[in-house]
Parts: sequence; C-alpha cells; structure tokens
Amino acid sequence: MAEQVDLVIFGGTGDLSTRKLLPALYQLHRHGLADDLRRIVATGRAEKDRETFLSEAHANTRRFVPTEDWDSAVWESFCQHLHYHTLDAAEAPHYQSLGELLDTAAAPLRLFYLATLPALYGDICAHLQEAGCVSPQSRVVLEKPLGHDLTSCRDIHRRVGEVFPEEATFRIDHYLGKETVQNLLAVRFGNPLLQPLWNNSFVDNVQITVAESIGVEGRGDYYAHTGALRDMVQNHLLQVLSMVAMEPPSSLDPWAIRDEKVKVLRCLQPITAATIKACSVRGRYDAGAVDGQAVRGFLEEADFEQASNTETFVALRAHIDNWRWAGVPFYLRTGKRMSRRYSEIVIEFRRPPFSLFANDPNELSNKLVIRLQPEETISLHTLNKKPGLTRKLRLQPVELHLTEDAWQRDHSYDAYERLLLDAINGDQTLFMRGDEVETAWRWVDSIIAAWEETGQPVKPYNAGTMGPSAATALVAVDGRNWYE
Ligand code: BG6
Repeated sequence: MAEQVDLVIFGGTGDLSTRKLLPALYQLHRHGLADDLRRIVATGRAEKDRETFLSEAHANTRRFVPTEDWDSAVWESFCQHLHYHTLDAAEAPHYQSLGELLDTAAAPLRLFYLATLPALYGDICAHLQEAGCVSPQSRVVLEKPLGHDLTSCRDIHRRVGEVFPEEATFRIDHYLGKETVQNLLAVRFGNPLLQPLWNNSFVDNVQITVAESIGVEGRGDYYAHTGALRDMVQNHLLQVLSMVAMEPPSSLDPWAIRDEKVKVLRCLQPITAATIKACSVRGRYDAGAVDGQAVRGFLEEADFEQASNTETFVALRAHIDNWRWAGVPFYLRTGKRMSRRYSEIVIEFRRPPFSLFANDPNELSNKLVIRLQPEETISLHTLNKKPGLTRKLRLQPVELHLTEDAWQRDHSYDAYERLLLDAINGDQTLFMRGDEVETAWRWVDSIIAAWEETGQPVKPYNAGTMGPSAATALVAVDGRNWYE
C-alpha cells in the first residue's frame, strides 16, 4: 500500500487556498487520485471550529468548482479528510499543538504547503522543525513569489534549506502545470521532424505573450510593490522560455530536465543601462473598456505612493547567447487589462530566401503556434496554393492542428491538480529547482537596476488594448510584428 500523506496548508483560508487548492483537492478526490491523502489540515490565524470551517469551505469550493463537476456525495466523503487548525504561523509556541496533531505513525509522509507571505517561509520551516513536525519523509511546497530579488530569494532558500533538502523542496510555478506547457516536451522531443528546425538556422523569432484582461483585483498593495516583471516574467514567462529553448535532456528525470532549463536561463544576455531602452517597454493601464465594460485605471485601483512607478505591462526583447539561439530574438510581453485573456507561444520560422509568389513576403512565414489558454491548442501554420484560375500563383495560410477536441476534453484540469498530485507523489519534474529561480532573479534584477539607473518611464495604455504603442515599435524596429 502507498504511504499515507498528511497535507498541512499554511494560509489555509487565504485566497489561493480558496480559489485553487481546495477545489483542486476536491477534483483529485472526485477522480479517486488522492486516495493516499489521509488528512488535509488547513491552518489559519482565526479561531474557528471544524464545523464553521467546513461550512465556509463548502460554500467557497462550490463557487470555484465547475457546476458540472459538483457532486454533494463526493463533497461529503472529501470532507472526512478536511480539518482546520488555528495557528499563527509567526508564533513558535503554536506549533506544539500542530506537532501533537501530526504525532502519529499513521501518516509518516507530511506535505507542508506554504501559501503565506514568503517573508514567513523561513520562520515556518524553523518552527516546524523545532516542534518536531518534520519527519524524514516530509516535503515542503513553496508558492511564488520566492523573494523580491536575488538577495531575498537566496535568504528564503538558505532558511528553508536548513530544514528541507532540495529533493524535498517543491517550488510551484503553476504555468508548468498547464497541459500545453508539458506538451511542449512531447512535441519537441517526440517529433524528430521538428528537431532539425529548432535553432537559429530556421527560427526567425520566438514570441511569448501572456495577456490578462483582469486588473489587479484587490491585490493593489502587493502589486504596487511588485509589478509585471517580478510578478509574471521572473517566473511564468522565463519558465516557458526555458522549456522552448532547452536542449534535449538526457532523460525525463526531473534533474535532467531542470539541468537543461537552468542552462538556458544562464545564457540569457544581461540587459544593461546601455541596452535597456531598446530592449524593454514598461506600461501602466489607464481607465478604458474591457469586454464592453468600463474599468478603472491602475492608479485609481491601487492608490499607493509606489504605484506611480509600477508597471502593469512589460515587453522585452531577450537574447539567449548559445550556439542554438544566437541572433534569434525572444520577444516577451505580459500585462493586465489587455484586450483579451490569452497566453501563447509563437515560433516563427524564417521566410523563404526568395519569393516565387505574388504574396507580400511578410505573409510567407511558417509558424508553430502553441496556445496555453483559454484553449489548449497547437497548430502549425503552413502555406499552400490559393485555389482558382488566377494567372499568378498566390499562397494562402493553412493551419495543421496538432491537437484534437478529444485531447482537450480529456485534459481540461487545473494546473494545481497536476502539481498537487505530483507533490503528493514526490515527482519534482514540474517544480522549479532553487538554482533556476535564482538565475531568473539575476537576469530580472539586471533589468530593474537598468530601469532605475536610466529612470525609464512607465508608459500609459488604455485598458482593453494590447499595451503601449512602444511595445509595437519594439518589434517593428526589427521589421517584425507581434502575432495576434
Ligand atoms: C499569478 C500572478 O502568478 O499568475 C497573477 O501573481 C496572475 O498576477 C496569474 O493573474 C495568472 O495566472 P493564469 O493561470 O490565470 O494565467
């Protein structure tokens, strides 16, 4: 029989737990995938009894689970595993009672999920150890943001590392749990057809867009001190970039994959004060309309002194200095309150060296378009003859779809379901290793330092657009366009 697991969630009544973790655990239970989970203990500062917690959890989980997946009988059996424990994460004495709760031979494997302020991670781990809560099989899951810069990230790693070895540390980037990001491994390394093309001889440029239509949604304080570069690029966009650009790993072993990813991050060309203006655009949304609804600007939503110098949009031209990618620009952009929500990777191949056709040469490129959300699709954009009796031969685009409806239907689960399941099973493949996170911070810190040194301004854009016009210019000066 597999070992039984106790899962303890710090920040157990917080936003992440409510929106993502409990719904994902409910779904795993519904599919019979979490049978090894003996207890789920949500911790929080508020004094409340189990009944109150269960009734709140019921209302919240029901809100965040799709109606067609809700089943009262499943909830009733899921509830048997659900507990609440009052605990102030900053208070060492509070951990004694948690130790007593866990002090049982029934579930030697403990998973501590830290979904609190990252500034508390070091103390939580130390208190857990002092109270004897950490068994040799224990694991810790860390939510982002892992620090505010390289120094604070290293500090978290050092303190967590005093209690949990790297093999027991699971750093979440929920983008790695998205099905299409995992499918990148399959498409890249399962199709020898693509391998010879996956380099600077054939690829013209790579674009990674993560566009959100939502604003900062009540997270104005956090966001005003963070900005889009730290909130999205340091983790999600760089993780996606490293999956696109990595060399073939020696196996699908988590260490082998992460070895290759970190090599890519190490090769990112530093952006300096001399290059920052040409390589980056910062933006901030003003009032506008999204999906036909009038919305407020960022400064009205986040009324903090810091906010006037915070970017809610960033576009970058990055270069990877290695043999495979030298000379190929990787254009990255992400922002809030953009015209629509979608995340996409576009690999644009070089155009033919000489055009035989009547088309504008700009129409002639092949592209591999990998859509992460809202749909999960992969399509290869090719060209063939436009039918008809015209004298001049013209080409027209044809999309070859590499995903089918059934594939999408079978894989419509939330990234947190995948990641929680992997953490329970001890599979680190989709979790970031410490050196990856630190290397990403080093690159991001160089951008922030260059912004500060040059005083690069934040350019306004209207909510409901694709960011400031300077972002279009960033790509246009290279004779290219964003694929939209
Ligand atoms: C989070 C960011 O990591 O990712 C949020 O902190 C952002 O600001 C979210 O909204 C986006 O995730 P997704 O899966 O909705 O694209």
